[in-house]
Amino acid sequence: MLNKIDHIGIAVKSLDEAVSFYETMGIKPYHYEEVDSQKVKVAFIKVGESNIELLEPTSEESPIFKYIEKKGEGIHHICYDVEDVDKALETLKNDGFKLINEKPMKGAHHKIVAFVHPKSTNGVLTELSMDEK
Ligand code: CO
Repeated sequence: MLNKIDHIGIAVKSLDEAVSFYETMGIKPYHYEEVDSQKVKVAFIKVGESNIELLEPTSEESPIFKYIEKKGEGIHHICYDVEDVDKALETLKNDGFKLINEKPMKGAHHKIVAFVHPKSTNGVLTELSMDEK
């Protein structure tokens, strides 16, 4: 069901500051976006075949703001590419996994996404993602 790791999400206080590390290492973000549903600004960085999503909160209501308050900056979630997010959620729900989103929603970069609670996934907030059709 999981095709590949789509990206790793990193919570940061400042995109500008976070991006400077990658720029020093010779990599520039290829995509910037504001995601209203999560109240974040994101920058996507490609390292070889892998993507990193830097997330900066735009409001104190943002889950990323709350995460940084509680745990500081750092790795926030791992995102897997799946064929069908609805189907994956249904399968997980039937198997007793704790979902954060019962229904998929619009994510960054033309994706449809849903989150699975870290209590069900060995402590790792897990995002499932597919291309918007
Ligand atoms: Co993500």
